[in-house]
Amino acid sequence: MVWIAMLVITSPLIRPALLPEPVSVRWQTGHFALLPGAPLAATGAAAGVARLARAQLGLTGAAPRSGTAPGVSLRLDPRLASLGQEGYRLRVDRSGVVVRSAGLEGLFYGVQTLRQLLPPEAFGGKGAPRGGWKLPCVAIEDRPRFAWRGAHLDVARHFMPKWFLLRFVDALAMHKMNVLHLHLTDDQGWRIQIERYPKLVSVGSHRKDTQTNDRPDEYSGKPHSGHYTQAELREIVAYARARFVTVLPEIEMPGHSQAAIAAYPELGNTGRPLEVATGWGVHEDVLNVEDGTIRFYENVLDEVIAIFPSKYVHIGGDEAPKKQWRESAAAQAKMRALGLKDEDELQSWFVRQIGAHLRRRGKRLIGWDEILEGGLAEEATVMSWRGEEGGLAAVRAGHDAIMSPYEWTYLDQRQTNDPALELPRGWGHLSLARIWSYEPMPAGLTPEETKRVLGAQTALWTEVIPDPATAEKQLFPRLCAFAEVVWSPRRSRLYERERPRMVAHVARLDAMRIARHPVDPVQTASDRASVGARS
Ligand code: ACM
Repeated sequence: MVWIAMLVITSPLIRPALLPEPVSVRWQTGHFALLPGAPLAATGAAAGVARLARAQLGLTGAAPRSGTAPGVSLRLDPRLASLGQEGYRLRVDRSGVVVRSAGLEGLFYGVQTLRQLLPPEAFGGKGAPRGGWKLPCVAIEDRPRFAWRGAHLDVARHFMPKWFLLRFVDALAMHKMNVLHLHLTDDQGWRIQIERYPKLVSVGSHRKDTQTNDRPDEYSGKPHSGHYTQAELREIVAYARARFVTVLPEIEMPGHSQAAIAAYPELGNTGRPLEVATGWGVHEDVLNVEDGTIRFYENVLDEVIAIFPSKYVHIGGDEAPKKQWRESAAAQAKMRALGLKDEDELQSWFVRQIGAHLRRRGKRLIGWDEILEGGLAEEATVMSWRGEEGGLAAVRAGHDAIMSPYEWTYLDQRQTNDPALELPRGWGHLSLARIWSYEPMPAGLTPEETKRVLGAQTALWTEVIPDPATAEKQLFPRLCAFAEVVWSPRRSRLYERERPRMVAHVARLDAMRIARHPVDPVQTASDRASVGARS
C-alpha cells in the first residue's frame, strides 16, 4: 500500500486524460520539454496544419536558427496508408515529437492528441512557459471508427452569430469531429443570403415574436432576426476546412418552409399571405408541387452549392404534413398526371426532382428519414432521427445512412434534473452517461450493410436556446462523450469508469471559457435502466 502511494506521489508526470480515447497508447518513462521556441518542421503540403499547430501548442517564441534543436515534426508518410487519411502515429520521446500520417487530416488529429499532453491552460491560448511544456514520453496509434462524425446546429430557430460558429468549429475539431451540419432554414427564419431571391432574407429572416413556452403559450414580445451573407458563409466554410470540418448545408423542403412562403407566397398552396412563424411545432403550410417551385429551389441550391464544397446537400424532408396537398386541386391534379398513388409518393417525387438536380451538379442528397416514405430517391442518404429504423431500412435498400436517433443524440434535451441548471422548457432527458452508452451501429446488419452506416451525429435544435452561451451549455460536455462514441474503438463505456477522464478534460473547456454543464449528471431511474443496454 505504502509503495503504491509512494509511486503515485513521486510519479514525475500524471498521465493526461485523452479524449476521444485513441486506439492504442503506450506510455513510456521520461519526458520531453517542448520549449516556447522549439522548431516545428512539416512536409511542405502540411504548412497549414503546421501553422495551426504552432498556435495550438503555444510555440510563440522565436525558433532557433540552427534547425537542429529538438521540437515537433509533422511528416506525411504514405507507408501509413493502412491507417487511412485520418489515422496517425504520435511519438514523444526524450529527443522530440513526431506525428506521422498518410493524410493531412491525420497530422491535424495527431496534433489534437498532442495538445492533450499539455496542461489544460495551454487550451486557453497560454504560450509555453520558459522551461517548456513537460510532455510524457508515449507512443500512440490512432484512427477513427466512423468516417462521419457530425454535429447539427439549428441556426434557423435562433440565429447564432458567425463568431460562435467559428468557435464551435474549433471545439468540434479539437474533439476530432468532422461535420458541422447547419440547419439554415425553417418556418421561423431563413438565414442564408440568396442573391436571386432577396426577399428570402429581407422578409424571411425576421419574425416579429418568439414563443418561449408551450404550456401555457407564452411569447417574448420581441422580434428576432439574423442571416449570414454569402461572404460570411464562405469564411465559415474556409475556417472549417482548414480544421478538416465539412460544413453541410440544410435547406428544408417541402415542410418547415413557412419563412420562404412568407417571402414568396407563390411557393405555397393557399395563396393566403403568411408571416414568418413565431411559434414552434409542425406547421401545415408546406411548399406546393408546381414546376416553378422546383425551379425556385434548384436555383437556391445552385447558390448553396457555389458556397459549400461539401459532397452532400441536406434537403430536410421531415415533418411535412400532407393536408394542404390533399386539399389542393393543383396538387391532386399533379399527383394524377404523374400516376402517383398518394401524397407520400408526391413528396417522394418532389425529393427525386431535387435529387436529380443535385446529381447533375455532382452532389449527393441527404434527407431526414421521412424521405423513405413514398420511395427513396436515387443515391439518397438517410439521416435517421426518429430511431434507428430509418437508417436500417436505408442500408438494407442499398443506401447510406447517418444515425441521429433523437433519444440518444438530441442535445436540446435536458441533461440533468436540476431545475437551477436547466432551461425553462425542455422535453426529453439525455444524460452524459446515456451518450457514453450509445452504440451507433445497429445490430443484425450484414458486413456490406455495416459499411453503409457512415457514422452518427448529435443535434442541437434551438427553439428554447436563444444564444451562444445557452447553446454551449447544452453541447458540453455531452458532445465530448459523443465524439468518443464516433471516434474511438467500440467498447462498453460506463459513466462511473469514464468520469475521471471527463473531469480532467473539462478543465480544457474551462480554459477555453466554453460554457458547460457539470460532469455529474443527475440521472433519472429510466435513464439508469437504459444506460448500458446497448453497450
Ligand atoms: C427533426 O428532428 N425534425 C429532424
